[in-house]
Amino acid sequence: MHESPQNDVEQTTDADLALRPLAAAGDPVRLADAYAYPPGGPWLRANMIASVDGAAARDDRAGGLGNETDRRLLSLLRGLADVVIVGAGTVRAEGYGPVRPGPGGWEKLRADRPPVPPLAIVSRRLDLDLDAPVFTDADPAARTILLTTRTAPPGRVRAAAERAEVIVAGEDRLDFAAAVAELVARGHERLLCEGGPRVLAQVVATGVLDEMCLTVSPMLLSGGAFRILNGPAVPVPPRLRLAAAYQDDEDFLFLRYVRRG
Ligand SMILES: NC(=O)c1ccc[n+]([C@@H]2O[C@H](COP(=O)([O-])OP(=O)(O)OC[C@H]3O[C@@H](n4cnc5c(N)ncnc54)[C@H](OP(=O)(O)O)[C@@H]3O)[C@@H](O)[C@H]2O)c1
Repeated sequence: MHESPQNDVEQTTDADLALRPLAAAGDPVRLADAYAYPPGGPWLRANMIASVDGAAARDDRAGGLGNETDRRLLSLLRGLADVVIVGAGTVRAEGYGPVRPGPGGWEKLRADRPPVPPLAIVSRRLDLDLDAPVFTDADPAARTILLTTRTAPPGRVRAAAERAEVIVAGEDRLDFAAAVAELVARGHERLLCEGGPRVLAQVVATGVLDEMCLTVSPMLLSGGAFRILNGPAVPVPPRLRLAAAYQDDEDFLFLRYVRRG
């Protein structure tokens, strides 16, 4: 329970507090416009979901937190992106396949781009099934990318190179700034990171995140679930600005935060 405020005439009272209602409440927006990447240069957006008490997974899966609106938004954000960065832990936990177009197709969204964005999977060990659809069924115009390190097992790197495009950045640990620069150099300026939490913590710590899209799932879970960032404290926490807030009719919130300045 919150502490009761002192009965002090100088003090601001609860009644003086003013909060703005959600801008889009009762006022539908076209999400493809609302989530369009800003023009003019590379932009790295993350898209994550958490329960009201901050859990980033339910029964070890992010999907257990979502609903249909969240899945549609996830799909749309993929459709808007040039590349989707994701950690090997999430690929293994969620059984990722290659990106597929959303309902109705993405022709209008993607115009002169490949029909889908490639996945760029972060992994040092490269302990991934190279015969899995995430590699074998990727669109030829959007071959899966592996973001790895110089100390990755050489045999795995050679095998991976037959099924994916391999980008090496960093010695023992992926250098996220260098990896992002490599993706941008390949024309992937609209970047989307789908986590997981260990990857996202490093993306944020490296200072390359521009936007955080957060779905707040109306659940209270407790338990030992990690948060949407899982890593050491960020040395200089970026200050964010709320760019937009939307809701659906199932009490989910869809927040868009962008880095200040
Ligand atoms: N709430 C959400 O929105 C959300 C989103 C995504 C995932 N999740 C959940 O999060 C869990 C998985 O997340 P996670 O944090 O454990 O894994 P993760 O961040 O997806 O991936 C971690 C893996 O990425 C690789 N990696 C990370 N940093 C690296 C570096 N600097 N250099 C080289 N490789 C690096 C390593 O792969 P190797 O071991 O192959 O070397 C590591 O095991 C699942 O339960 C999933 O459902 C939640």
